[in-house]
Amino acid sequence: MENAAIHFKNRAQKYNHSSNWVEDQALINRIFELSGVGTESLVLDIATGTGLIARRFYGRVKNVTGLDISPDMAKHADECMDEIIFAPYEQMPFADNSFDAVVCRQGLQFAELDKAIPEIHRVLKPGGTVTLCHLTAYNDTDRELTFAIQKLRNPARRNYLMPHDISTCLQKQGFCDVADTEYVTPESINKWIDNGAIPQENMDGIRELYRSADEAFKQIHHVRFADGDILDDMLLMIATGKK
Ligand SMILES: C[S@@+](CC[C@H](N)C(=O)[O-])C[C@H]1O[C@@H](n2cnc3c(N)ncnc32)[C@H](O)[C@@H]1O
Repeated sequence: MENAAIHFKNRAQKYNHSSNWVEDQALINRIFELSGVGTESLVLDIATGTGLIARRFYGRVKNVTGLDISPDMAKHADECMDEIIFAPYEQMPFADNSFDAVVCRQGLQFAELDKAIPEIHRVLKPGGTVTLCHLTAYNDTDRELTFAIQKLRNPARRNYLMPHDISTCLQKQGFCDVADTEYVTPESINKWIDNGAIPQENMDGIRELYRSADEAFKQIHHVRFADGDILDDMLLMIATGKK
């Protein structure tokens, strides 16, 4: 498994345009709405990256803190949060009960979940909300191939997620009102694989996996081959809960 900080050092330059979901304002709005924040909320965006989620909260809540391990990604975060802290989400430098909301998009696939989820719970105030959005497979039919594609696309990935994996972790941690919201994101594979951090052989390997995919996978993902590109309706799950 590649080191996540090195992976994102190489990806930082291209990150803000490296997929459709990265730029999707409807998705960002959905995460904002689900977090249930108000003007007095203290918000923590973990794995903030270039701050694309933090930006939606900045100025609309009392304070937004971003947390990440990659100063290279943060170089591409302009005025979009009140402060940024460089630390792993498995060991956050915050006191217990510090935040009204913890949010994260596409960050916990690199996590030691048995450390990160308790940390999220610890830093949230009682009654605080958690909103965690991640790419998953749809079901057992597409699981193996989805994970093989994800592995080639991001060698730093630690967790390969099924739709209810994160919400199950939240439940086990003692969060209440846990729920999952589906969000389908139509992706251009040419755009998604050109992330600046994987070799040509990985990109070729991903295209080959799509070409040789069985019909069941192609149907679930609504795979289309058009104009030299491959289109895939990927599944994001947004897990929510309350401390
Ligand atoms: C795919 S980016 C997501 C960025 C942002 N949340 C977004 O939605 O655009 C993943 C981010 O997770 C960060 N990351 C990886 N491992 C981490 C860890 N252990 N602790 C904190 N951040 C981490 C990476 O540095 C990277 O910025």
